[in-house]
Amino acid sequence: MNPPRAPRSLWRHARIASFDGDRPWGWLDDGALLVEGDRIAWVGPDAALPAERLTGGGPLDEIDLGGALLTPGLIDAHTHLVYAGDRAAEFEQRLQGASYEQIARAGGGIRSTVAATRAADDEALFTLAAARARALMAEGVTTIEVKSGYGLNERDEARCLAVARRLGRELPVAVRTTSLGAHALPPEFEGRADDYIAEVCRWLPGQQAAGLVDAVDAFCDTIGFTPAQTRRVFDAARALGLPVKLHAEQLSDQGGAALAAGYRALSCDHLEHLSPAGIAAMQAAGTVAMLLPGAYYFLRDTTLPPVAALRAAGVPMALASDHNPGSSPCLSLLLMLNMGCTIFRLTPEEAWRGVTVHAARALGLGDRGRIAAGLRADFVVWDAGHPRELCYRFGHNPLRRRLFGGMPD
Ligand code: NIG
Ligand code: FE
Repeated sequence: MNPPRAPRSLWRHARIASFDGDRPWGWLDDGALLVEGDRIAWVGPDAALPAERLTGGGPLDEIDLGGALLTPGLIDAHTHLVYAGDRAAEFEQRLQGASYEQIARAGGGIRSTVAATRAADDEALFTLAAARARALMAEGVTTIEVKSGYGLNERDEARCLAVARRLGRELPVAVRTTSLGAHALPPEFEGRADDYIAEVCRWLPGQQAAGLVDAVDAFCDTIGFTPAQTRRVFDAARALGLPVKLHAEQLSDQGGAALAAGYRALSCDHLEHLSPAGIAAMQAAGTVAMLLPGAYYFLRDTTLPPVAALRAAGVPMALASDHNPGSSPCLSLLLMLNMGCTIFRLTPEEAWRGVTVHAARALGLGDRGRIAAGLRADFVVWDAGHPRELCYRFGHNPLRRRLFGGMPD
């Protein structure tokens, strides 16, 4: 049996921020969008709608948007969505003066989430992750990247990746999976980080053969892994033809961004302590800077990522929620739009490109993140007149309709 075909639909009189072409915002003041199946068939000024495209080809559902805003579906390109438990007690400890690093070194932090995740069965992990994914989707997200990294053994890493894959099968959202075995040292490997890295490298071929992994990530930092250990993980990824990305320069400058750029990393993420040399290497490699204001805010960081220098160098900047229980228990990409502007001083257009076209690039996906003919029909209609309104307000969700592959929710 053929899967049900999304109906043909024509969306008229929209203000469209397409993020396509050279115009600011890819702006169309009175635009129209024709959807056929799961693709955008035509987009342009409403007055230029080609009549011949509208006849034939089956029934056409026509919707007059009356000047409402239409944008690409949002892409959250850095999340740790699959885990059990929470870290509210750790939050309280931090309020009493303990630092994120101190808690991690004392065996809490990521390790406490690993214990809770290992103890949860597949169904529990799926239920928790699905609720988080739905919260993101309710704000217009149509593609989510999901990392492992709270299993930290062969079985539990594979389980977490399988849960992420299941999200993409059972919910109307696209999921890209990232293997992050090199997230933290599990307690059973205490004092043997090099041995643990050998294990992480050993798991990758099996994860790939099972169709569980689209990319490979690591946490290169004082409480994570060294550049040399990161390099071993990346060599293993490269041997399998898997793209890499890196949690780089979050708490200190390890030279991780330049290292990752040497592997043509899709993105380097966090980057509060990024050096000029790191920026130059990312620029040369075409690596996306993934900015994570939720973690910056929640850890009460005081070193800002070098946004002005990234901008001057022409490094594409993306924005993501970094949803995770320790450093960013945030399920709002709209809030990241606001924080990207207020805290990181992105322009509203940069922030928007960060959750659309540049987020797609950070996932290596050329078929989404813009409104253009031939791309996936993942888009959102908002009760707003201009996208800058969504950067300006916070705690406010003006979503009217979300379309995933041409299918409305
Ligand atoms: O992206 N920096 C490392 N990983 C996560 C935090 C993980 C955690 O604290 O559970 C991050 O911030
Ligand atoms: Fe992260």
